[in-house]
Amino acid sequence: MSNGASTKEEAKESSKELQDNTASNLFSPFTLRSVTLRNRIGVSPMCQYASVDGFANDWHLVHLGSRAIGGAGLVILEASGVEARGRISPDDLGLYKDEHIDMLKKITGFIEQYGAVPGIQIAHAGRKASTKNPWKVGNRHEKQEITEADGGWQPVAPSAVPFTPGARAPHELTTAEIKEIQLAFQSAASRAVKAGFKWLEIHGAHGYLLNSFYSPLANFRTDEYGGSFENRTRMIIETTKLVRQVWPEHLPLAVRLSASDWVEGGWTVDDSVALAKILKELGVDLIDCSSAYVRPGDRYSYGPGWQVPLAEKVRAEAKIATAAVGMITEAKQANEIISSGHADIVLLARELMRDPYWPYHAAQALEEELGLKAKSVLPANYSYAI
Ligand SMILES: Cc1cc2nc3c(=O)[nH]c(=O)nc-3n(C[C@H](O)[C@H](O)[C@H](O)COP(=O)(O)O)c2cc1C
Repeated sequence: MSNGASTKEEAKESSKELQDNTASNLFSPFTLRSVTLRNRIGVSPMCQYASVDGFANDWHLVHLGSRAIGGAGLVILEASGVEARGRISPDDLGLYKDEHIDMLKKITGFIEQYGAVPGIQIAHAGRKASTKNPWKVGNRHEKQEITEADGGWQPVAPSAVPFTPGARAPHELTTAEIKEIQLAFQSAASRAVKAGFKWLEIHGAHGYLLNSFYSPLANFRTDEYGGSFENRTRMIIETTKLVRQVWPEHLPLAVRLSASDWVEGGWTVDDSVALAKILKELGVDLIDCSSAYVRPGDRYSYGPGWQVPLAEKVRAEAKIATAAVGMITEAKQANEIISSGHADIVLLARELMRDPYWPYHAAQALEEELGLKAKSVLPANYSYAI
């Protein structure tokens, strides 16, 4: 794989300076600390709802391995619960016990063998936990709770307010319980190292636990974890500090934020800029700018590239690398996001589900414009034949 060798000092410096992307394109390599992505295309984390007791299996190997073969520079595994009760559904991936490591190691090895960097997202679903597997419900945004009788559990949250009105109330975490969850994030990060991941993303978006602390729409606490910006961001800041302690210095750390709640009285992109500046000082290298999903009734103006302005603003004002995500489907569109300096990488979810060879097809579409050979995106044993 293309992990460029560099000293620890160089690695530290390379992540401090924001790179000038004006001469870059979708197929330019991108380096954070000692890790170099072969291009700017990443597989956005996507729950597969295909695990039993948090274990990865052959589904994950084939699904993720196909995207590495297809030419992505970065393959980020789905939200992986740092605790069993932090899974969205009982079928989620987990990193809450050492036994999870072996199969993940096989997957990271395969991804690296085909030139992509293996990443994983560590997560706690908070009040959105213990819900039905969405492909059995038919809508991934609608959360249908599972009762204890059906193998569910009581979710936990900053405040005892359910995500879906009328659903069972989550348990309001005590300060001691908050610390335990922060340590669970740290232990999961240690397991990610052992499993061979080279890129770690903390899930701080989509109304899950960390997001529900910093968004004023879900946190109604009156102690040091609620109220002011400083108090609401304490959970994600303390968690990040603990994770950075065990995540190797030469490897990049990313945080996914719901960079805007898009509603009056909610978290704003200016809040995200302020938080990104703090996270950068703590050793975070990239902010993955997603948005929304803290409350079920809120409506958003979707459209192609709808979250790119968030990545652009956080990058420009917090001077930190960003990932753009959300309805990025066209080669030209993705290339422009990079070459205009709006973000450092693009993450694709559904389009890479539809087409694992999207990077190759994008290279074909941009071949003339960028003067590259599309075949070079594929492994040798494919490219000779096509
Ligand atoms: C099936 C599916 C599962 C997802 N699971 C996760 C996840 O585990 N973690 C996460 O942060 N986002 C998750 N997302 C959101 C995607 O990462 C991405 O942000 C979103 O789909 C928008 O990108 P797209 O328009 O390219 O699909 C999921 C999306 C899909 C479609």
